[in-house]
Amino acid sequence: AGDLVASLRLVKDEAERQTMAQAAAISAAGHVRAMQSTRPGLAEYEIEAGLLADFRRAGSQSVAYASIVASGPHSCILHHRAGDRRMQDGEMLLIDAGCELDGYASDITRSFPVSGRFSQAQADCYGLVLAAQEAAIEATCPGAAFTEPHDAAVRVLAQGMLDLHLLPTQSVDAAIESGAYKRFYMHRTGHWLGLDVHDVGDYRRRLSPGMVLTIEPGLYIQPATDIPEAFWNIGIRIEDDAVVTPKGCDLLTRGVPVAIDAIEDLMAQACS
Ligand code: GLY
Ligand code: MN
Ligand code: MN
Repeated sequence: AGDLVASLRLVKDEAERQTMAQAAAISAAGHVRAMQSTRPGLAEYEIEAGLLADFRRAGSQSVAYASIVASGPHSCILHHRAGDRRMQDGEMLLIDAGCELDGYASDITRSFPVSGRFSQAQADCYGLVLAAQEAAIEATCPGAAFTEPHDAAVRVLAQGMLDLHLLPTQSVDAAIESGAYKRFYMHRTGHWLGLDVHDVGDYRRRLSPGMVLTIEPGLYIQPATDIPEAFWNIGIRIEDDAVVTPKGCDLLTRGVPVAIDAIEDLMAQACS
């Protein structure tokens, strides 16, 4: 029965979509407040505490997964749990957190500078991940294979790594073919989302309306002698939840901004 149930869970009906949109809105509001309250000297767990309080106050029953609040070097660790490290001026903060509402998961990641202002290197990397996400969103439409958004994101990221001289000069096809890009982007671009955060469902199924998946490209640059220091410890992931529609997809999680200027404006607003 497992395959039959998984197949039923893959396409969400109207009531499920409404619950998932509500879960996404609660999580997005939590991320907004987390961005506004971030400042140098805070510990990762203090940001996590705010998220948990906001999720529960808004009526969700729990988190969908352990919150990732990853500052500085931790932003390059994919599943770093919020710890007691204090974030510093000049570093990135990566938050991957989502609530669960009436059984349904949400899953959002935002990455931004602790100072509230992107450095040039941070902005270059962020702009690249955002462009990769836009390409993946564009590729998320009925009839597409599940791998198409990932392939679209990888192509943009690999080209950007070449443009930023993070990879030795080669063609973008060679960087993809050899897997050289995996040094800085080593995970998949999405997964099914539903009753579980990594939901059941056959990944060989083509996308069709009512399916819900995440779109979450990233870029993670660890310190290394062949990389300019300005790029060290920049870890970025941008993750939104998408429901496939008859024409493409709708993003459920854009209640929290992704554009650089919108993030900087939001962070400039003090949080009580
Ligand atoms: N929060 C886990 C994931 O993004 O897959
Ligand atoms: Mn995810
Ligand atoms: Mn996530």
